[in-house]
Amino acid sequence: MAKLVTWSQYRASIGDRSTLFAQVAEACSIDRVLYPGSYVDLSPSTAFASVVYVDTDSRAQRFFADSELVGRELAGRTRPGAGTQVRFIGADYTVPLDLPHAHVDLLISLYAGPVWEHCGRHLRPGGWLLANASHGDASLAALDPRLRLVAAVHHRHGRYQFVTHGLDRYLVPKDPGGVNVDRIRATGRGVAYTQPAFAYLFEHA
Ligand SMILES: C[S@@+](CC[C@H](N)C(=O)[O-])C[C@H]1O[C@@H](n2cnc3c(N)ncnc32)[C@H](O)[C@@H]1O
Repeated sequence: MAKLVTWSQYRASIGDRSTLFAQVAEACSIDRVLYPGSYVDLSPSTAFASVVYVDTDSRAQRFFADSELVGRELAGRTRPGAGTQVRFIGADYTVPLDLPHAHVDLLISLYAGPVWEHCGRHLRPGGWLLANASHGDASLAALDPRLRLVAAVHHRHGRYQFVTHGLDRYLVPKDPGGVNVDRIRATGRGVAYTQPAFAYLFEHA
């Protein structure tokens, strides 16, 4: 059986992202969220009502299978109305998921590969993608004309800061001639930007 890893243990190593998602929740109208490649990062459920987590990792499967444990981990940490539906799908997100299209309000892509490319179909028009530069996903999103940057997120000393003005400073390649979608896909490496950020919030047209 897979070793049990809890969100509180994981949080102790990567930090608590609850304040990141609280700020997204304050700025955007979001009920339904999809988080492919979540591992045991339960933090979105502190801010949003319904979150579907997807991962192939057996430790994530074991953690989310224990609904009492998940409830204890969330206790006292949720915003009003958040954490009411926590669903886990033990699946490879690059294979089409049995979920409705254009249905979720927020798609999360953090350190988990080309989530936008494979799961973007589940995001509703007018919804949001939160992506970081890991594995090139934010770079692929930045090149997608259906997405518009609405905030850059900095992470410094454990705090998340959203920047919504002067966004034209962001996603500017250091080497504009070197930007190549096929290379990003093939290498899983993002574009080097003149002004990097921890993550980027995009709005879907
Ligand atoms: C580095 S961890 C990041 C976990 C979490 N997103 C975070 O930011 O803390 C990457 C996770 O993505 C999962 N993952 C990677 N590719 C996947 C795929 N194609 N389908 C499902 N899960 C995947 C891995 O199993 C792992 O749990």
